Amino acid sequence: MPNAIVTGATHGIGKAIAEKLLANGYNVAICARTTADVESCKVKWQSEYAGANILAETVDLSDKQQVHSFAASVIAAFNEIDLLVNNAGLFYTGLIKDEPCGQLERMMGVNLYSAYYLSRAVIPVMTGEDNAHIVNICSVAGLEPHLNSGSYSITKYAMMGLSENLRLELKDSGIKVTTICPGYTYSRSWEGTGVDTSRLIKAEDVAEMVWTTINLSANTIAETIVMRPAKGNL
Ligand SMILES: NC(=O)c1ccc[n+]([C@@H]2O[C@H](COP(=O)([O-])OP(=O)(O)OC[C@H]3O[C@@H](n4cnc5c(N)ncnc54)[C@H](OP(=O)(O)O)[C@@H]3O)[C@@H](O)[C@H]2O)c1
Repeated sequence: MPNAIVTGATHGIGKAIAEKLLANGYNVAICARTTADVESCKVKWQSEYAGANILAETVDLSDKQQVHSFAASVIAAFNEIDLLVNNAGLFYTGLIKDEPCGQLERMMGVNLYSAYYLSRAVIPVMTGEDNAHIVNICSVAGLEPHLNSGSYSITKYAMMGLSENLRLELKDSGIKVTTICPGYTYSRSWEGTGVDTSRLIKAEDVAEMVWTTINLSANTIAETIVMRPAKGNL
């Protein structure tokens, strides 16, 4: 069975990606900060996908040591990794000129550095023989500026830079790097807002896009995928 890591997979986009992979025969390692959510995903998935090896750990990815120890646990359990999905992300609003001091650094820790540290830790056990893949869940905010979430946008531009440089470095190794840039997607942050959900991307559609891109032939790579609500931004 192929082995995947999905960070931040207890809610939203990450959870939809983990479930898509489990339904298609992957072993999956996930992490998030809230132990109850990590445990409940593990229990639910172990009953639904009995043949899968599921590693679920409480990890705060803003802490470099915890990223490294999560990587070590996954490598000990799986030996080889076929797919790494850097999904976990933090989103704070605010104007760059007014936001609390440290807001950029907090988001950078999760949105950029965790993906950087985890990718570096895992690349040595991604052989590339079977079309190995790193998928970074970025954002349209990594392609264009966003009013009132400027620092978040900065972190996602940085993630674009990480993805494009890694893709260049790895292109002869058989490890592809794809960036998916969704616009507004229904997830935890939209719960209880009364938003018309038909105006938002479905997390399952982002998962479907991950599935499509990792199943392209070895000849082809989808480099950057942009997804937007079909009826335009709210
Ligand atoms: N939803 C959107 O509109 C949208 C649009 C474009 C891009 N994105 C990107 O898509 C990704 C997923 O977003 P989402 O909307 O699905 O988020 P979400 O529903 O809030 O889920 C985020 C997941 O990441 C985990 N997480 C957050 N901080 C973490 C940390 N420090 N360490 C470990 N796990 C952490 C959360 O669990 P815990 O809280 O328990 O840690 C949760 O499982 C993010 O990178 C986001 O920037 C989202």
